[in-house]
Amino acid sequence: MDPQRVLITGVSSGLGYALATTYLNMGWKVYGTSRRYPDGLQGNPNLYFNALDLEDLRYIPNALASLLSHVSKLDLVILNAAVICPIADMKDTRVEELQHAMKVNVWANKVILDTLFQREIEVPQVVGISSGASITGLRGWNGYALSKSSLNMLMQLYSQEAPHTHFTALAPGIVDTPLQDYISSVPDTEKFPTITRLQRMKANAEMPSADGVAQKLAHIFPRLLNLPSGSYTDVRKMA
Ligand SMILES: NC(=O)c1ccc[n+]([C@@H]2O[C@H](COP(=O)([O-])OP(=O)(O)OC[C@H]3O[C@@H](n4cnc5c(N)ncnc54)[C@H](OP(=O)(O)O)[C@@H]3O)[C@@H](O)[C@H]2O)c1
Repeated sequence: MDPQRVLITGVSSGLGYALATTYLNMGWKVYGTSRRYPDGLQGNPNLYFNALDLEDLRYIPNALASLLSHVSKLDLVILNAAVICPIADMKDTRVEELQHAMKVNVWANKVILDTLFQREIEVPQVVGISSGASITGLRGWNGYALSKSSLNMLMQLYSQEAPHTHFTALAPGIVDTPLQDYISSVPDTEKFPTITRLQRMKANAEMPSADGVAQKLAHIFPRLLNLPSGSYTDVRKMA
């Protein structure tokens, strides 16, 4: 039988790396992008990688054309790559920082989806990796929260235009990744109580590992198809 194919953005680290590893172990062909190569996966004949800076929206179509030149169907697309905006009050955040988060976390995903559809690649399922921050509106999460709530809406809007593709925005819960390393280094935590909680979890090694979460997500993704296309959900509601 022809192996299944998944496109994953942000495969060089954290959750994206763990998802790539999980799907390779499941025998899938993995098409991955990020700026850095996913060290540790080299030599795997089922990994196809193209370096891509998602901030440079103009290069996305060509990079995908080269990565997916022989692909007519992707069983799953996981829009995972993202950046966090420095944790700070909105009034202390520069518009350029917000724009950077919006570009990588939202607009790049729009260009990726447009490219896939323009190339008439069959895509039955898209999962945008969102965050609880997309709906909580907690102090300090500024550009990250704005971009993730926009990602939720992006999934909903595409779901109405592309009836043959199922879209979900999925919050993966807390995951021990380099993104959390940044959160651990935030100094001014009194203003931002959620950061204190995350720092405590990290210090006490209470955060779920990226490998464990990726394996759980691979089981959950098929179940997302039971939700209305365009939904936002949180993995913690799907245990
Ligand atoms: N960790 C958590 O607790 C948590 C919680 C909720 C949601 N999430 C979400 O889970 C997803 C994965 O996050 P993570 O925790 O695994 O973060 P991470 O370890 O920082 O990984 C982020 C990935 O995105 C890629 N990326 C960042 N900027 C990029 C750019 N300009 N161009 C191309 N790729 C870029 C990085 O690759 P390069 O640097 O090589 O480009 C890396 O592979 C994100 O969508 C995040 O918002 C994470």
